[in-house]
Amino acid sequence: MSEQQNIYPVRDAIAAKAWADKEKYQAMYKQSVDDPDTFWGEQAKRIDWVKFPTKIKHTSFDPHNVDIRWFEDGTLNASANCLDRHLEKRGDQTAIIWEGDDPNDSAHISYRELYERTCQLANALKAQGVKKGDVVTLYMPMIPEAAVAMLACARIGAVHSVVFGGFSPDALAQRIIGANSKLVITADESVRGGKQVPLKDNVDAALTRDGTEVCQKVLVVKRTGGEIEWKEGRDLWYHEQVDSQPTDCAAEEMNAEDPLFILYTSGSTGAPKGLKHTTGGYMVYASLTHQYVFDYQDGEVYWCTADVGWVTGHSYIVYGPLANGGTTLMFEGVPSYPTHGRMGEIVDKHKVNILYTAPTAIRALMAHGENVMDSSKRDSLRILGSVGEPINPEAWEWYYRVIGNSNCPIVDTWWQTENGGIMIAPLPGATDLKPGSATLPFFGVQPALYDSEGNALEGAVDGNLVITDSWPGQARSIWGDHERFTQTYFSTYQGVYFTGDGCRRDEDGYYWITGRVDDVINVSGHRMGTAEIESSLVAHDAVAEAAVVGFPHDIKGQGIYIYVTLNDDAEPSDELKKELTQWVRKDIGPIASPDVIQWAPSLPKTRSGKIMRRILRKIAANECDGLGDTSTLADPSVVDELIEHRANR
Ligand code: PRX
Repeated sequence: MSEQQNIYPVRDAIAAKAWADKEKYQAMYKQSVDDPDTFWGEQAKRIDWVKFPTKIKHTSFDPHNVDIRWFEDGTLNASANCLDRHLEKRGDQTAIIWEGDDPNDSAHISYRELYERTCQLANALKAQGVKKGDVVTLYMPMIPEAAVAMLACARIGAVHSVVFGGFSPDALAQRIIGANSKLVITADESVRGGKQVPLKDNVDAALTRDGTEVCQKVLVVKRTGGEIEWKEGRDLWYHEQVDSQPTDCAAEEMNAEDPLFILYTSGSTGAPKGLKHTTGGYMVYASLTHQYVFDYQDGEVYWCTADVGWVTGHSYIVYGPLANGGTTLMFEGVPSYPTHGRMGEIVDKHKVNILYTAPTAIRALMAHGENVMDSSKRDSLRILGSVGEPINPEAWEWYYRVIGNSNCPIVDTWWQTENGGIMIAPLPGATDLKPGSATLPFFGVQPALYDSEGNALEGAVDGNLVITDSWPGQARSIWGDHERFTQTYFSTYQGVYFTGDGCRRDEDGYYWITGRVDDVINVSGHRMGTAEIESSLVAHDAVAEAAVVGFPHDIKGQGIYIYVTLNDDAEPSDELKKELTQWVRKDIGPIASPDVIQWAPSLPKTRSGKIMRRILRKIAANECDGLGDTSTLADPSVVDELIEHRANR
């Protein structure tokens, strides 16, 4: 397949000024894997330490003792690295450009201002009794206070747990309980696409759930001034607590391995996992990847369209760019509002040089035709990036041609919440591009492909993607459950980190991610466990059993297809489909909205009672001819019934 692909060679003009050209990439990569101590010891100098580490790498993937430590005797503070050290040279430089949902709303925040606002909130948090090691939950709109809140937590050694604002009260409650979080920072409402989202109401609802008593305080940013309920003694206005605080606050000296943040993500089984990321290795990795993968040059305007609720927002809106003294753009709204040309208009308005977005956003634009970007020129752009899901070559070419005016290399970046930073991606001055391939590993990353028996595969081949040794940005554990961390990532294949992704390596050693090989689906770049959606459905009175699979979707990448077996006393109806859709949206959040529901009198199961998802996936994808061997099913006729009543799309 790759032979027929277009190849986009490195542009001389980019390579001439880039942080790395081909030779430099190869030399640095070689050293990073042959001699990680020297490589990372040198790279550690890119950030400020209170005490520079003497120990660099101390890591084991042995499933009996998974132990990951980087720079373990170093001390530092992440917020000081993003703020204090830039004040002298860049105090007046813009750190954050904020672009509101309304195109007439924007703001520039300098490094000094960001420093002062962060210190004020840090002091306010201290005044509320928040201490080093406490967990603070953030449930916030895309407003500067979200970045301020992350940095303020980091400043005093509190651990932030950002929960995406599209999650439901129940999902929020689950995360508050899981992290034992004492305080929540939120806003009255967020604004997206001209509509208000009731964040504070959702927090109120979450805090009525059993187990959330640990959370004593809610700090509320006034974003819209919309009407909200107020609980005296618990709720506090952000501005009232913050505005009178001193604009200095000493940064807590943290050990490199002290936690910086928790971030929940979905897996193939059980409740979402709170990945634990620590301070030193994460900061080195986030800043190094941001500089090299985007070839970030001093003074450039960089825009990552992710939400801070996802890891991409953590590493590539906040920590990476700010550690590098960059100017990072933060957008409150959605790319389709007020018109589909908005993304390009923002690029022109703020002279964006680097744009990092998701394939689903590109496919949504593509659907509006070649002229959708005509309201902008986008001639400031130099580099484009993609993340979150495989980018199909058609979308890649469109992104390149229409958005980038055939002028900008695209870095397709593969990585995961667990990784902390980009793992497989081109470097603009070093890597020839093949549309649809994430290309080659970043410094220190050692990918390998295994077959299902755990044999390492050589050469051009398809397999399961594993990483054979540690890198500094890696999550250290699952919050409160190291055993689950070991089980999930290090026990499928002994001694290596299993990514959960399938992948092909071509004859040039390029990696092509093919998607998840487990029961995780990726809908518009949002990662979801099918088990989570199933357990939500079976909690409904009418539902006896449910099976959820992904199916190919033109815009979202994958859509959610649900097979539901009803209880005997429940009647299938369109009304009930609507009710179940609402049920899942309410339980998990709008991102988990089912696309298709099919009534299934029964589900295809093996004789031992295991649901054969492989078959359900094929039916959902309308690939009913290639169902493979169904002879192991307890009742093969179930399959014919499902095919016959395949839900129309
Ligand atoms: O399946 C891969 C897909 O997204 C998963 C990770 O999701 P999450 O932890 O939410 O992090 C997303 C952003 C870092 C991966 O296991 N994925 C992410 N980036 C790509 C990708 N698949 C293909 N190509 C990518 N560039």
